[in-house]
Amino acid sequence: MQYLLGYDIGSSSIKASLLSIGTGQCVAAAISPKKEMEITVAREGWAEQHPERWWQEVVNATAQLKAEYGFEPDQVAGIGITYQMHGLVLIDKGGQVLRPAIIWCDSRAVELGNQAFADLGEEYCLGNFLNSPGNFTASKLKWVQENEPEIYARIHKIQLPGDYIAFKLTGRLQTTVSGLSEGVFWNFKEQAIAQELLDYYGISADLLPEVVDTFSVQGQVSSEAALQLGLASGTPISYRAGDQPNNAFSLNVLQPGEIAATAGTSGVVYGITDAPASDSQSRVNAFVHVNHTPAQPRNGVLMCMNGTGILNSWLRKIVGEMPYDQMNRLAAQAPIGAEGLLFLPFGNGAERILENRPADAELLGLNFNVHSLAHLLRAAQEGIVFALIYGLNIMRSMGVQVKTVRAGNANMFLSPVFREAFVNCGNLTLELYNTDAAQGAARGAGVGVGIFASPAEAFGGLECILTLAPAPELQIRYQAAYARWHQALTLQIPTTSTTTSHVTQPAF
Ligand code: XUL
Repeated sequence: MQYLLGYDIGSSSIKASLLSIGTGQCVAAAISPKKEMEITVAREGWAEQHPERWWQEVVNATAQLKAEYGFEPDQVAGIGITYQMHGLVLIDKGGQVLRPAIIWCDSRAVELGNQAFADLGEEYCLGNFLNSPGNFTASKLKWVQENEPEIYARIHKIQLPGDYIAFKLTGRLQTTVSGLSEGVFWNFKEQAIAQELLDYYGISADLLPEVVDTFSVQGQVSSEAALQLGLASGTPISYRAGDQPNNAFSLNVLQPGEIAATAGTSGVVYGITDAPASDSQSRVNAFVHVNHTPAQPRNGVLMCMNGTGILNSWLRKIVGEMPYDQMNRLAAQAPIGAEGLLFLPFGNGAERILENRPADAELLGLNFNVHSLAHLLRAAQEGIVFALIYGLNIMRSMGVQVKTVRAGNANMFLSPVFREAFVNCGNLTLELYNTDAAQGAARGAGVGVGIFASPAEAFGGLECILTLAPAPELQIRYQAAYARWHQALTLQIPTTSTTTSHVTQPAF
C-alpha cells in the first residue's frame, strides 16, 4: 500500500493527513497541538508566531499519525504542504530564523503598503500587481528594513510559512510563483518579479528564494528531518500552496466560474478567473492559482475576513471550553436575527474588505432581559456570515458569478446555523465535501510526483456529502437580519465603501 502525506500549517494548529493512493481516501489524520496555538501580540495590531513552533508541531502531528496508523516510512510516495499565507519568515546564511514570523493578520505594515499604493499609483498597482501592496509580505519586509535594520542586514532569504516547513524538510530555500504573488512580489502583466515594488521599497531581489513549480518534485526529505519525523530520507516534497489556493484545489476548484470557501480562523470565498481582475479599493485580492500557466492563466480572486473562526474560538474560551458542537446546538436555539443582537466580527487585524482598516469586534443591541448565551452564539455565527456575504458582494460587483460554493466539511461549516445563514443570506447553493486542507495537500503531492496524471485525476475519493439550497421564507428573514447588520456596520465603521456601494443584496 502506498500513501501520500499532507501537512496543513495553520495559525491555530498543524494538521497531517495520510491518503491512500489506491482508494483516494484519507486513512488517518492528526492535529497538534490539541489546544489552539497562541498568536503573540507584542503591540496592538501585531501578530507573530515562531516558525520553530510550527516545525515542532509538524514533528508532533507526524508522531501521532504514526501511532494511530502504523505505516512504514517507505510507503510515503510524496509530501504536500499547505500553509497560512502572507507571513514573513527571515532566514540567515546559516539557515537560522532571525525573528518570529510576522503572520498574515499582523497589521503593522498597513501604512507602508498604503503609501506604496499612492506613490506607485493605484492604477499602476492594480494593473500590474492586481492588489495594493497593502499589508502583504513585501510590505512586512519593508517594515523590518525600516525598524530592525540589524536584523534586515542579516537576511539571506525570506520564506513564506510553508516554504519554511519545506526548508526544514529538505534544506532548500524555495518558493512558488503563487507564493510570490501572495506577497505582492509578482507582476501579473509582465509575468515576472515585481521589480518596481522592490525598487520602491529598496529591497534586493536576492532576498527572494529560488522559484519552483507548485506541482513538482521540489526536494527530498533530508536525513536529519527523516530522523526527527520517522519518515524515509529521500521522500519527495512535491506540492506546496497557500491555504486558500489549496482549499480551492482540494475542492477541485480550478476553472473560471468555480467557487470555493473556507471558514477556519479566517474566512474566505475564492473564485477562479482567467483574466486579470481587481477591486479599485483592493478590498478583495487576486493571487496566482495553483494551476496557472502563462499559456492558460488562472488567478484566484478572494475575499478574506480575518475575524471568522477566531471569534468562535474566542467565545469558546469565554464559555469554559464548551465543545463546538454543543455551541452550535445552543446557537440554533435562538431565532434568526438573534432578537436584535448583532456582532461585527472583526478584532483580528486590519480587514481588507474594510479598506484595510484595523477594526475591533463589536457587540450591539444587547438587552440583559432578552438575550441569553444562545443569542450571543447565534449573533456571532450570523455576524461572521454577514461579513463574508458583505465581502462576497464586492466580488459580485466585480463580475464574479457566485451561485454554487464548494467547501470542506470542516470548521464553521460544521454548524447548521452557519450553513443556513450562508446559503440564505448569500443566495447561493452550498456543496460540502469530505475533505480538508491537509488531504488536499496530499492529493497535490500525488500530482506533483506524477502519481496522478492531472489535478482532475487526483479527486477520485472526493465526495459531496451535503448540498444546501436557499429557501424563500428563510431568505426573507436572513435578508432582514443582514440589512440591520449592514446598517450597524455603516454606523460603526464608516468606510467609503460601507457608506456608498454594495449595500444591496442580489435579487432573491
Ligand atoms: C488569505 C488570508 C488568510 C490566511 C489564513 O488571503 O490572509 O486566509 O491565509 O491562514
